[in-house]
Amino acid sequence: MDLLSKIQAAASYIQSRFLKQPTIGVILGSGLGGFTDEMHIECEINYSDIPNFPVSTVEGHSGKMLLGTMAGKCIVVLSGRFHYYEGYSPEEVVFPIRVMQRMGIHQLLISNAAGGTNTSFKVGDLMVIKDHISFAIVNPLIGKNINELGIRFPDMSEPYSKKLIATAHHIAKQHAFELKEGVYFGVTGPTFETRAEYKLINQLGADAVGMSTVQEVIVAVHAGMQVFAISVITDIGVREEENIISHKDVLDAANASAPKLTSLLKSMIESLESAS
Ligand code: HPA
Repeated sequence: MDLLSKIQAAASYIQSRFLKQPTIGVILGSGLGGFTDEMHIECEINYSDIPNFPVSTVEGHSGKMLLGTMAGKCIVVLSGRFHYYEGYSPEEVVFPIRVMQRMGIHQLLISNAAGGTNTSFKVGDLMVIKDHISFAIVNPLIGKNINELGIRFPDMSEPYSKKLIATAHHIAKQHAFELKEGVYFGVTGPTFETRAEYKLINQLGADAVGMSTVQEVIVAVHAGMQVFAISVITDIGVREEENIISHKDVLDAANASAPKLTSLLKSMIESLESAS
């Protein structure tokens, strides 16, 4: 089956289970599942039931699609994502984004856990991603371009919507919580970075580093979506004394910041105009 047919089959299956038309998509990263408690879930679909969908394997990622409403908006949530380090091809990693594209999603909100490479950051900070560096990952658009999905050479001057970033800052101010902003450096993982790597990433102009998001954002931009992404800073590996990092530390820190992140995302969804 060709890729377009695979995407269509997945989208058709989801649309047969949920008849409303969401226009907002949300991808939840490690330990950030509390978001869905705030959602009115009308339909829950295991990834394993969706034709052609990869299946998530990482602890802390439950692997299901949730459809319903939040703050009066019809949304689709991916609880659990696919990482390149799990052994999926870049095409598999981004498959859910393309299914959301086919379903008519115009706005995509993404969260992740990331390591801080900006020494002014602390564990638990939320960092709005204003830009990314993708050189250390495999670009998911390599290969024959499928014109139905997007253009051959997508512009990357504003992968993260300035308008949505401004909205996030406005909301953070209203809620009186601090919101950092910075550049996210994408890596493949699964190793955390060495001391030299954290330092280099910082010198290259990035404020945080993580193993997800960048491939998803590239494909979302290719698809013409408006994108917002935010990192929970779960470790500050760039500081030598804090360089020993475990997956548990990452999950604990992400869970601790989940309520703040949930309230921010919920307010953002409330404020989104229905895109046409
Ligand atoms: N590096 C890469 N990915 C991560 C990190 C990190 O320090 N923390 C959470 N995800």
